[in-house]
Amino acid sequence: MVEDIYLMESDEEAIRLDVKTDPEVVCRQAMWAGAASGMRVADLGCGSGKTTKILHELVQPGGSVVGLDFSEARVDFAKKTHGKTGAHFHVRDIRDSMADLGQFDLVWVRFVLEYYRTESQDIVRNIVSLLKPGGILCLIDLDYNCLSHYGLPTRLERGMHGIMARLEQHANFYPYVGRKLYAFVYDIGFTHIDVQITPHHLIYGDLENSVEFNFTKKVEIAGKKSGYPFPEYPNGYTGFFEEFKASFKSPRRFTYTPVICCKGRKPK
Ligand SMILES: C[S@@+](CC[C@H](N)C(=O)[O-])C[C@H]1O[C@@H](n2cnc3c(N)ncnc32)[C@H](O)[C@@H]1O
Repeated sequence: MVEDIYLMESDEEAIRLDVKTDPEVVCRQAMWAGAASGMRVADLGCGSGKTTKILHELVQPGGSVVGLDFSEARVDFAKKTHGKTGAHFHVRDIRDSMADLGQFDLVWVRFVLEYYRTESQDIVRNIVSLLKPGGILCLIDLDYNCLSHYGLPTRLERGMHGIMARLEQHANFYPYVGRKLYAFVYDIGFTHIDVQITPHHLIYGDLENSVEFNFTKKVEIAGKKSGYPFPEYPNGYTGFFEEFKASFKSPRRFTYTPVICCKGRKPK
């Protein structure tokens, strides 16, 4: 059975997203996407609103940004934390019609499609109507999410792969969605398609606090929710999570995850 609930849901999710979002990285990605002054932008699945705030700054003077998320808690957090900047936030499900919002110069979807293994392509098709002719769609997601490590114990790596396989089957999560983005944009007939790959995680040596908090939270929530039985450990999940925390702290561990950005223009 596939659950229709956001995999990372937790009381701390808005904070996790706020802490892990690096403004410099978002700024670079948004400038690559073509964010420029005067644009009307939609940030779909905006989370804590930090990306929305950054997009809002980039389109000044004269631009505006709307952040949409289906979580009331995240939209409340976004309004309180980033609302004063001028960005607007609404509770919306991006699988539904968004025709009442009008049309945008740039639609930005970062780290959302990975939660929709079966519907991601339909979501992209739904978004097309939000764009003006000539408008830009920018999709950003990870590939091989949390799965590339060296220096972790073999049973720990098996556990991580076990979690992801379960999440694919039962939670509609797709850790390899990054590689699909180009085809999504190609299939909707967009022009001027461009793709960029950069490291999202590149972790070696001592851990920064924000990296430790975000990665550990991810493994904790995904590990518990996956229902994977962790046969590699006599005490199941508890043993796995304890070993993860200890091994991940080792400065010898090497971890990376590529982030893929794909943009294209709606034909005029
Ligand atoms: C991993 S966060 C990404 C947040 C932000 N885009 C970023 O780059 O940091 C995914 C967000 O998408 C939201 N989301 C997931 N499915 C959604 C849907 N169908 N409609 C609207 N928001 C959705 C979740 O509530 C969550 O806040």
